[in-house]
Amino acid sequence: MNDRASDMQQIGLVGAGTIGVGWAAYFLARGLDVTAWDPDAAAREAFADRVAADMRTLGAEPRRPRLAESQAQAVAEAQLVVENAPESIALKRRLLRELQEAAPARALIASSTSSLRHSDIAGEVADPSRVVIAHPFNPPHLVPLVELYGPAPEVVQRLAGFYRRIGKQPVVMRKEMVGHIANRLSSALWREALYLLQEGVASVEEIDRAVTAGPGRRWAIQGPFLTYHLGGGRGGIRHYLDHLGPSQEYRWASLGEPIMDEVFKQRIVEGVNAATRGQEVVPLVERRDAMLVALQRLPEDDDAKENY
Ligand SMILES: NC(=O)c1ccc[n+]([C@@H]2O[C@H](COP(=O)([O-])OP(=O)(O)OC[C@H]3O[C@@H](n4cnc5c(N)ncnc54)[C@H](O)[C@@H]3O)[C@@H](O)[C@H]2O)c1
Repeated sequence: MNDRASDMQQIGLVGAGTIGVGWAAYFLARGLDVTAWDPDAAAREAFADRVAADMRTLGAEPRRPRLAESQAQAVAEAQLVVENAPESIALKRRLLRELQEAAPARALIASSTSSLRHSDIAGEVADPSRVVIAHPFNPPHLVPLVELYGPAPEVVQRLAGFYRRIGKQPVVMRKEMVGHIANRLSSALWREALYLLQEGVASVEEIDRAVTAGPGRRWAIQGPFLTYHLGGGRGGIRHYLDHLGPSQEYRWASLGEPIMDEVFKQRIVEGVNAATRGQEVVPLVERRDAMLVALQRLPEDDDAKENY
């Protein structure tokens, strides 16, 4: 599928690290044109090969992205600018201003920021309505979610339509929020996972397994609300709230706050090294990606786009 029918054919991609590579692979696989820039020479050098690898994971014939010779050149003809630079308010504020100055007046700018709000980073641009938070979930070429927030609903809807047409599942936020939606939920879970580790309740490996062998099985197909609706049996969410709501409150009152000092950080690193048995990151990424590809082949995935 490609987006030739719309005005989002030319993607100017700035920041060619983990997220930039995944986005580039996805856009190219969908027939869009990508011109990329990264200030780091090593990132530019590795870019085409990394994109090709991600395209192969997608089952697509690798196509080469164009590499620009400057940031301004990368976006000079862009209809959509995709910003994937490091997570820093000061850097993104300046960068978004520069990108809007260099891009065509009608171009939209999508920031991949994981945590920052539109109001944190769009303060210096001339036209904030054309800057939208479009947060992908890592790896962007294999996970369908894109969280959108922008101050101009018609711009956000236009972008939501674009992401839908290229096979993504956009969620539009009605107000801006630090960490958007999915990362806040992930952070809530990770905070508690760390607390359980700090309290000595279980090892890193055991805590991870308690997720992947348990609730994680459902989370690929059901969010928290539908999960608890079905947890109420025939009585659905109403029965769940009346029957097990108090036990949720009992648990919430005991949720913990890990203390992130150096000693604990070292314990986390040792725990992860033990759980992964010294494997390098690259084969672990490859295994994750292969499993994500397998998950995408499940028939329910198509349904999930249309139905609750
Ligand atoms: N890694 C994740 O899981 C993830 C998921 C979703 C969104 N994001 C967001 O995507 C963005 C990029 O994260 P990442 O994980 O790809 O980081 P990364 O460190 O892998 O890549 C960042 C790239 O930006 C480049 N860069 C540095 N200064 C720059 C500048 N001034 N202009 C343009 N590029 C610059 C770096 O050379 C590097 O190649 C961040 O905003 C992050 O919050 C990350």
